[in-house]
Amino acid sequence: MAEVVIVGNAQAAGELVADAIAALITRKPDAVLGLATGSTPLPVYQALAQRAGGLELAGVSGFALDEYVGLAVSHPESYRSVITREVVEPIGLDPHRIHVPDGRSETIESAGSDYEKALVAAGGVDLQILGVGTDGHIGFNEPGSSFASLTRVKTLTEQTRRDNARFFDSPDQVPMHCITQGLGTILRARHLVLLAFGEGKADAIAASLEGPLAAMVPGSAIQLHPHATVVVDEAAASKLRLADYYRYTYANKPGWQGI
Ligand code: F6R
Repeated sequence: MAEVVIVGNAQAAGELVADAIAALITRKPDAVLGLATGSTPLPVYQALAQRAGGLELAGVSGFALDEYVGLAVSHPESYRSVITREVVEPIGLDPHRIHVPDGRSETIESAGSDYEKALVAAGGVDLQILGVGTDGHIGFNEPGSSFASLTRVKTLTEQTRRDNARFFDSPDQVPMHCITQGLGTILRARHLVLLAFGEGKADAIAASLEGPLAAMVPGSAIQLHPHATVVVDEAAASKLRLADYYRYTYANKPGWQGI
């Protein structure tokens, strides 16, 4: 079972996770971070940027979860652009150590296996930040994705395209396809940290944590992971049956343990 931490707000979640990442980098200066895009992880990146002055970051690498297919890399909403703007620049990571799946149509056939090779060559992800879609996706593994899946092209659901339309001028500009780490890829990371805020995520969080393991709920894959931490606000936690138990467990956790 994942450890569930219910926090007061997104900023508190950002501080908690940034502390864990800072501790990881201090312990392992060549740490490999798994980077999610979207709105959810922004407080983590902001809090990490505030801690960056005290960290040795030259050896840190990062791997994005996913990328749109067929969107120019230079487009401001390509995940390469987003990661550069929201993560690499504010924190001060070495851009040469930041990997994003290659969504260019010309090379898309081999892009998945190339990304898998790069992940293995880097020694695997130490800490993977995850958000969850309202339909339960993690990465862009939409409902029905295999728990054994590796990096590959997927078709975004209409729901995900609607959810992401806020980043584009109109909903039909949201690409139809993406390339995403698979659930099998994500499960190889040594520590998963899934964040979710707001009522709109409550169903996806409850189904992922307390529902049955099911390809229909890709987030439920985290139940298979030996070290998964879920950090949610009260609204995202509002449909968890064991919320009081999670609070009790966290409140009584030995201080040295971290997340
Ligand atoms: C992003 C990603 C997605 C998002 C999810 C939630 O790289 O892979 O799984 O984490 O769509 O998006 P937000 O955080 O914008 O609600």
